[in-house]
Order: sequence, then structure tokens, then C-alpha cells
Amino acid sequence: MSRVIVAGHLCLDIIPEILTSTPIEPGQLVDTGPSILSTGGAVSNVGLALKKLGVDVALVAKIGEDAFGDAITRFVCGYGDGLDGHLSRTNAAQTSYSIVISQPGRDRTFLHHPGCNHFFGTEDVDFNKLPSSDWFHFGYPPLMQRMFTDGGDELADIFSRAKQKGLTTSLDMSLPDSAGESGRAKWPQILAKVLPHVDFFMPSEEEAALVTGSNEPAQRALEWGAKNVVLKCGDDGLRWTDGTTALNQPVFPVEIVGTTGSGDATIAGFIYGMTNGYTIEESMKIACAVGACCCEAADAVSGIQSWETTQTRFAIPQPSER
Ligand SMILES: Nc1ncnc2c1ncn2[C@@H]1O[C@H](COP(=O)(O)OP(=O)(O)OP(=O)(O)O)[C@@H](O)[C@H]1O
Ligand SMILES: [Mg+2]
Repeated sequence: MSRVIVAGHLCLDIIPEILTSTPIEPGQLVDTGPSILSTGGAVSNVGLALKKLGVDVALVAKIGEDAFGDAITRFVCGYGDGLDGHLSRTNAAQTSYSIVISQPGRDRTFLHHPGCNHFFGTEDVDFNKLPSSDWFHFGYPPLMQRMFTDGGDELADIFSRAKQKGLTTSLDMSLPDSAGESGRAKWPQILAKVLPHVDFFMPSEEEAALVTGSNEPAQRALEWGAKNVVLKCGDDGLRWTDGTTALNQPVFPVEIVGTTGSGDATIAGFIYGMTNGYTIEESMKIACAVGACCCEAADAVSGIQSWETTQTRFAIPQPSER
């Protein structure tokens, strides 16, 4: 069985069931249904998807010594005993949370508190204490202050130590907040420091264009040192290049319920393939298969199936049958 370390952004999602489509005005009491509580962020989305596929995962993130932190540990342990074992806890800030206001027929509004994610740093990733693994994935540095305020030194340090341990590495982004500090960060400078230690740079097409400041983002990322670039292109699927060869993988047609977490599920599928002996081309197919499953449920994790079910449904052969 493959072993994967998933590090980065983690938060608690609080999603009240709002029955009314009337705009919420100040001064009202709005009667709501029960709320769904779940975890969100790259660590939860990629990590729990891998766990459901049958991969041994270590989740690395920072949460608070508070009730929301307790809720996160309880939720992740529902996917496997001890899955909270590498989450560090702090009193420096509150556990990160999102309140999702989703009214029937209206666009969703997110109230997001970055909390502990802004305090996550190099000391939270101790490879000597983590289980020996095959792969290291990091997600959403634009939502984690220390990963972008020092010009990228801290993020580069984490990735270079992962490489020293012999791990294959991957990096995903989120959209920098154009009105906030992450929007003002010098992403090209940060990426030029980090990408030499990144084997697979895996942002969405839109994120890639924004953080590289280029309309040829894959080319730019390769020049800065990434070994491979895998771009998530929504319903156009996945594009891979290593600078010499390029591949496209279209999406699998499914009935879309919601695309929350589909990017992360796609990454989980790709990592599953690569750590289980599949080629890049086959891993891209597995990536889009897992991404499609994710789109069949409203949340990030419910749609993900076991590896056996995914393999049968999308006719993916054993790697040994190649
Ligand atoms: N309509 C669809 N049908 C099937 N699969 C889809 C569809 N839309 C997206 N996917 C899958 O989800 C992947 C992720 O798409 P996207 O480019 O939206 O990533 P992202 O922006 O990182 O997503 P996220 O919002 O989860 O961060 C695609 O590469 C594909 O595998
Ligand atoms: Mg994404």
C-alpha cells in the first residue's frame, strides 16, 4: 500500500440548511434547518479522498486548542483511527472555519476565517516524526500567511526537506485574494524558489495564469524548475507537460451535483495512480475518474468511491497488465 503525506490548509466547514431564497436582511431572525459540519481545505479534501481510495495518509495541518479544533479531530478520525495524529494544535489563533451561506437559487457566500492556517510553518512538518512515505502533497499556500510573506523561503524549506527524504512532491494553489495580502505577494518570486523542489505543480488553469503572471503558465513553471506541470481545466479535464511531451485527459461525463473539492479529488486520483505503479497517462485517467466521482455529490468527499469500485466503473486495468 502506498503512503502519502498531505500538508497545508485545513478548516471546519459549517453549512446551515437555509430554506428561504429571500435575501437575508440585517435585523432578521432567519429560521434554518440543521447544519452540516465537515472539514474543508486541501488537507481534508485530498487526504480523505486518498484514505477512501485505500491509501495510508498522514494529515499535516495546524488547528486550535478549541471546540472547532475538537470538531475537526473528531471528524477526521471518523475516516480512520489516529488520522488526527499529525495535526498540530496551538493557542496562538482560532481554528480556521468557513460558514457557507447557500440559499436556494442564489450564489453561495463564504465567511472564511484563516485562523491557525496563517500560523502554519516549517516546524509543523517534521519528516523525522512522520511515517516514511512515497509522496508529499501541499495545498493552498495563498491561504497561509507564512507561506507567502517571506518571499517563499519557508515553503521552499518544507519542499526541499521533502526532497531530501526522497519523496515525490506536488503543489496545489488556491486563488490569491486580490483585495488582500496574498494578492499583493510576489508569486513569481515565491514560485521560482519553491518549484525547483516540486515534481508535480498542479494548480487550476486560472490559478496558474494568475500566480505566474503569464498566459503560458506551464512553460513558465517549468522554467522556474517544476519537473512536471498538471493543469486542472474544469470540464476541459487535465493537461500535463514536462516540457518535452504533453498529454490531455478529457473529463468523464457524469451527472454533476456539485464541483466542490473536484480539483482536490482529481489530485488524489493522480497521486493514487502514480504511487501504485501507473504511468502518468494512466494516472491522469484515474485523476479524472476520481474527479468525476467527486462531482456526483455536493460535498468534497462523499462522492469518492473505494479503489475497487472506481477501477471497475472506469475500466482501469491493473498496472501489471500494461
Ligand atoms: N463537469 C465535469 N465532469 C467531470 N469531471 C469534472 C467536471 N468538472 C470538473 N471535473 C473534474 O474536476 C477537475 C478539477 O477541475 P477544476 O479545474 O475546477 O479544478 P479546481 O479549480 O482546482 O477545483 P476546486 O474548485 O475544487 O479547487 C477536472 O480536472 C476534472 O477532473
Ligand atoms: Mg483547486
